[in-house]
Amino acid sequence: MAVAEQPALPPVQVSRPMVPTVIVEDVNIVYTVYGAGTGKGSASAALGRMLSKKRRSTNVRRVHAVKNVSFTAYRGEAIGIIGSNGSGKSTLLRAIAGLLPPESGRIYTDGQPSLLGVNAALMNDLTGGTNVVLGGLAMGMSREEVRSRYKGIVDFSGINEKGDFISLPMRTYSSGMAARLRFSIAAAKDHDVLMIDEALATGDRAFQRRSEERIRELRKEAGTVFLVSHSNKSIRDTCERSIWLEHGVMLMDGPTEDVLAAYEAKTGK
Ligand SMILES: Nc1ncnc2c1ncn2[C@@H]1O[C@H](COP(=O)(O)OP(=O)(O)OP(=O)(O)O)[C@@H](O)[C@H]1O
Ligand SMILES: [Mg+2]
Repeated sequence: MAVAEQPALPPVQVSRPMVPTVIVEDVNIVYTVYGAGTGKGSASAALGRMLSKKRRSTNVRRVHAVKNVSFTAYRGEAIGIIGSNGSGKSTLLRAIAGLLPPESGRIYTDGQPSLLGVNAALMNDLTGGTNVVLGGLAMGMSREEVRSRYKGIVDFSGINEKGDFISLPMRTYSSGMAARLRFSIAAAKDHDVLMIDEALATGDRAFQRRSEERIRELRKEAGTVFLVSHSNKSIRDTCERSIWLEHGVMLMDGPTEDVLAAYEAKTGK
């Protein structure tokens, strides 16, 4: 019996479905600054205003920090956010974390985004160890989970490499040590969306390498990672997609290599 010849089938594309985790739609963010000076006048005039009986200043200034930004982030992506000082990077992350309401536009997120930044709330008067426990509980871990991960978190932070520092109050830590502990606590959990605002910059080289490794793991575990950094190397090593903000405007969104090439051409780095 003759078998009809089958046409060759195209090769099967095995790709992960693109699951959006963060959708930012035409977002504008405006800070309202009360009591701002007009920029006119001398220091003594400013002192006079401070000392005068007229307590409530009518000077209100608006800072338009993020302008018409739109993008979609997908599960498994690590996205670098670059741009000069004051370009709106931290503001954008705070808005995605739900800490700042946008003036207009919409932000949709899948799950609770966690912002790991310079201002992540740890208690300075409590010991590093207590902060590990509180931080873990605050991120929604059970007591059991905190107990089982405690040693891993402390080891990852490297806080105890030079002696028993974890039982000292956090105010005795250097800024680098505090940043490392913050990162270690946040990175102990698998996040849906993890946002890191320059947390890596303060660690030493060995810690930076460890944390970059951890970011890659978090990505594999299907989260989305945003990394704000002034270190182009960190961005290159961690993110394959990058967003470039300048004066609150998104100048580019694309493969890290392309975006950084344009950024470096502009900044001369
Ligand atoms: N709490 C605030 N109140 C008023 N204006 C603010 C506030 N925070 C930031 N801004 C202003 O918003 C703009 C964007 O600031 P943002 O902190 O987002 O910049 P950034 O890109 O994170 O900068 P950097 O690289 O220095 O961290 C700046 O013009 C800044 O002055
Ligand atoms: Mg910032």
